[in-house]
Amino acid sequence: MKPRQDFDFSQAGLEDILAHLESLLTDAVTNRHNAFHTPVLLSIGLDGRPRGRTVVMRSFDASHRQVRCHTDIRSDKAAEIAKDARIGWVFYDPASKWQVRLQGLAVLHHRDDQAQAAWQKSKRMSQICYGTNPAPGTVIAGADQFVLPQEPDAIAAGEAHFSALICTYDEMEALWLGHKGHRRMRYRWMEGGEIQSEWLAP
Ligand SMILES: Cc1cc2nc3c(=O)[nH]c(=O)nc-3n(C[C@H](O)[C@H](O)[C@H](O)COP(=O)(O)O)c2cc1C
Repeated sequence: MKPRQDFDFSQAGLEDILAHLESLLTDAVTNRHNAFHTPVLLSIGLDGRPRGRTVVMRSFDASHRQVRCHTDIRSDKAAEIAKDARIGWVFYDPASKWQVRLQGLAVLHHRDDQAQAAWQKSKRMSQICYGTNPAPGTVIAGADQFVLPQEPDAIAAGEAHFSALICTYDEMEALWLGHKGHRRMRYRWMEGGEIQSEWLAP
C-alpha cells in the first residue's frame, strides 16, 4: 500500500498515525523518492559529543521494530557503536511533512550470517566502497590519495569490512507540520511489548 501524502492528520488518532508512519518507513526502503530513504543516524562520539551522518535505510521491520543500514566496520561510527550501542535516527520527508525520530540499541553484524546475507544482496557499486584503502576517515595527503578495488577478487575482499547495523528501537517520536496546526506524538514500547502512546505539545 502506497502511503497517503496529502492526508490531513489533524483529526487522526495515535493508532492510525503509528500505522501510517510504519507504512511511510516501509515504503522508503525501496522508494528513493521517499526522503525517509536517507535518514540521519546518530551515535555518541568516543569523546562524548553527538555525531550524526546520512545513511541509506536498507530495511525496516515494524513488527520487530528494527531498522537496518550498512557501514564499514573501520568507520568512526562502528567504533562509537561498539563502545555505546545507544543510537538515534532522524527522518524528515518534506513531501509528507513528517519528521520521525527513533531511539534504540544497535547491533553491528560483521562476518556473521546476517552480514553475509546483506552483502550478497548488495549491488556491486555499493560493494566497491568497502574496499576503500586507506580506511574511511583516514587523513590523506591529497584529495585523490585513496584507491577503490577494480578486480572482482579485490571487490569481494571488501566483505571483510562490511557490516550490517541493525537497530531495535523502543521509542518513536513524530511531528507533522499541518496547515491547521501541527501534531506531535510519542510511542514507547515497554518491556512486555505494550505501547505507551501520548500526544505532545508541538
Ligand atoms: C545520501 C548519503 C547516503 C549515505 N549512505 C551511507 C550508508 O548507507 N552507510 C554509511 O556508512 N555511510 C553512508 N554515507 C556516508 C556517511 O554520511 C558518512 O560520511 C560516512 O559513513 C562516515 O561517517 P562516520 O565517520 O561518522 O563513520 C552516506 C552519505 C550520503 C550523503
